[in-house]
Amino acid sequence: MNNESTISETAWTPAHQEPFRVLVVEDEELMRSIIVQLLRREGYEIFETGAPDVAIKIFEHEKIDLAVLDLNLGGGSSGLDLLGKMHEIDAELMGVIVTAYASIESAVEALRLGAYDYITKPFANDHLKAVVRKALEYKAAFRENRYLRRELREKYRFESIIGNCDAIDRVFRVMEKVARTDSSVLITGESGTGKELVARAIHFSSERANKRFLPINCGALPETLLESELFGYKRGAFTGAAQDKIGLLKAADKGTIFFDEIGDMPPALQVKLLRALQERECYPLGSNDPVAFDVRVLCATNKDLDKESREGRFREELLYRINVITIQLPALRERTDDIALLANHFLRKYEKPLGRSAMRFSKGAMRLLIGYPWPGNVRELENTVERAAILAETDVIHAHDLPEKLHDSATVQVAPPAAGMTLEELEREHMRRVLNEVKGDKVKAAQILGIHLSTLYRKVQRYRLENEGLPVPAGAKPALQSV
Ligand SMILES: Nc1ncnc2c1ncn2[C@@H]1O[C@H](COP(=O)(O)OP(=O)(O)OP(=O)(O)O)[C@@H](O)[C@H]1O
Ligand SMILES: [Mg+2]
Repeated sequence: MNNESTISETAWTPAHQEPFRVLVVEDEELMRSIIVQLLRREGYEIFETGAPDVAIKIFEHEKIDLAVLDLNLGGGSSGLDLLGKMHEIDAELMGVIVTAYASIESAVEALRLGAYDYITKPFANDHLKAVVRKALEYKAAFRENRYLRRELREKYRFESIIGNCDAIDRVFRVMEKVARTDSSVLITGESGTGKELVARAIHFSSERANKRFLPINCGALPETLLESELFGYKRGAFTGAAQDKIGLLKAADKGTIFFDEIGDMPPALQVKLLRALQERECYPLGSNDPVAFDVRVLCATNKDLDKESREGRFREELLYRINVITIQLPALRERTDDIALLANHFLRKYEKPLGRSAMRFSKGAMRLLIGYPWPGNVRELENTVERAAILAETDVIHAHDLPEKLHDSATVQVAPPAAGMTLEELEREHMRRVLNEVKGDKVKAAQILGIHLSTLYRKVQRYRLENEGLPVPAGAKPALQSV
């Protein structure tokens, strides 16, 4: 039994959104009321009229998602003309044409003029419902897609790359120039310097921004799998190939493909990739029919590809092909001026989910951040800031909220120069450093220093080094807080 409530439960509207709004324009009253009832029961909000000029008025004042239009509206008016006028106001309106004159020409004409679909009278109720539902699903997916793309573009625009130093300025200048072209770009830099971030920013600032950005990690897949992923395969090409699959080169058509860790691509595959890029077509495994594709190629590596090529591990021709422009990202230790900027940027990012809004670093903490060599570059800094934001008990991140490795490098940096110290001072400083390195293990320290354990204990007492290298007891101030 169909009562109103069970019907509205089945009504399809995207989650968290208002019901879709449908305008029905049909001059035959009986037919109109049938369509209106059918669609109203589907849960849509319905507007209705038999007159084209009223339809336009409604359309101008209400936000309509879909219009069901009779082809022949009487008085010489056509539903298709009306749809054309409505499309001038809102190009995203979905139009469904209803026609009693089932002729191929009027149907084809309807689709050509921008209708989403058409139905012929008499129609089955389920057919009308299905056509309207499909059109609205399509519209929702389109809307969502556009929203997602806008969000991605926001996230990956140039401004998402933080940096103020000369090296990053140069990177920006090159990025601006290449974004509008189709040139291949090779992005080099140590791990965590932002190579993928730069690749995404180039794609999302290019003409291809509305198409896909497909990253592929050349080091992560075994050779055969990488090959079948890249070029695709035909059903039965190998055991397990149950159906045809298009390759990533084709999947990224009109968009950008990002070969990450290109230096790790196996040599045999380098040759095949080079051929595919030159010909702009590739052969899926098990097929003799070439598949054409149009992709922009961005690559990243943390290897020295010139050296790899000289030593025979990387094809020289492929290197020329992918390296039309090079963007070299500096290591974070080469741009220490940017550390404070980046650290504060990440603090803003990570305090939000914690429900905080005014976190900051103490002077001592900032000094530690700036003094550390950051072998994992920006990624390591980002992780460190995230962790500290979580651990900090107040809005201020102190030195003791930062990991031990930062303190260790600071210890070395603040070691006073030997000149100007007495022998005794030098002995004390040396013992302190050794004790720190062995985390307070006196037996090990005595071995390293080449003295008896009893001598060590005596000197430790004399120099007041009892707690050196030992974990800081809870609640106590760490020794290096003021560094
Ligand atoms: N200049 C920057 N501004 C803001 N965030 C950055 C910057 N550089 C890197 N990051 C962030 O650091 C992290 C690492 O960046 P990314 O993944 O692009 O590095 P990568 O060079 O590709 O590293 P790997 O070689 O390890 O793959 C990401 O979270 C990225 O958003
Ligand atoms: Mg990367």
